[in-house]
Amino acid sequence: MRENIQEIGFFDIVQGRRSVRIFDQVTLFDHQIVQKCLEAATLAPNSSNMQLWEFYRIPETSMLKDPISRLCMNQKAATTARELVVIVTRRDKWKSRAAANLSYIRETYKNSPGKKQKQAEAYYGNLIPKLYSKYPLWSLTKQIIAWFMSLKRPMVREVTESDVRVSVHKSAALAAMTFMYAMKAEGYDTCPMEGFDSVRVKKLLDLPKSAEINMIIGCGKGLPEGVYGKRFRVANDEVIFEK
Ligand SMILES: Cc1cc2nc3c(=O)[nH]c(=O)nc-3n(C[C@H](O)[C@H](O)[C@H](O)COP(=O)(O)O)c2cc1C
Repeated sequence: MRENIQEIGFFDIVQGRRSVRIFDQVTLFDHQIVQKCLEAATLAPNSSNMQLWEFYRIPETSMLKDPISRLCMNQKAATTARELVVIVTRRDKWKSRAAANLSYIRETYKNSPGKKQKQAEAYYGNLIPKLYSKYPLWSLTKQIIAWFMSLKRPMVREVTESDVRVSVHKSAALAAMTFMYAMKAEGYDTCPMEGFDSVRVKKLLDLPKSAEINMIIGCGKGLPEGVYGKRFRVANDEVIFEK
């Protein structure tokens, strides 16, 4: 019997997902699915499990929906979206996230303390603060230390302040992608956007200066005319290599 069941597998979701710029205004949109898919997005891999991200839901009923849509340069993907999701990076929350990891580790190993706990404690108690702390000239100092260490052994080179920023955005983007696939799995469409006024969006969301907008995602049931043309990708052999 099982072979008769039409299963939607992962690759169907990947193939079926498109950036959709015009969303249906009529049919019921289940906003709870956005919540469910964001909860799935928090399971995305992320650098050092620091989870330096936040997700702001702006449903069509929110007073912020129209102003934020306008700040997305009035793109249809935003104005017709039934809900917007703003993916925010919170590099500034590193201390509380490191502390959360530390207390989780202590709780996990409380009955069997040992080498693993010590390693984890050193990671979140020593290495992470070194990477994330901000002092004058610290970024350059880290780079110089890493360079000297690299003379003797392989060394992570991405230690500057801008490297940390990239790292936090990488993790947020993985959560964004997880969210978009989850939405597709639930029968909904999305459009990721970076065309927006980040300064004004941050102000509207009452975010601190140190927070950054990773992307804004329009959500809804896509209309066929919301898909602008056939999908185009360069040939696989231009981007996939085996060495
Ligand atoms: C980081 C990022 C920013 C994007 N910004 C916009 C945008 O502002 N407006 C838009 O219409 N599409 C935007 N897109 C969607 C891309 O144009 C789209 O993913 C690409 O053309 C491939 O099409 P597909 O997603 O349908 O496969 C963005 C995509 C990404 C990943």
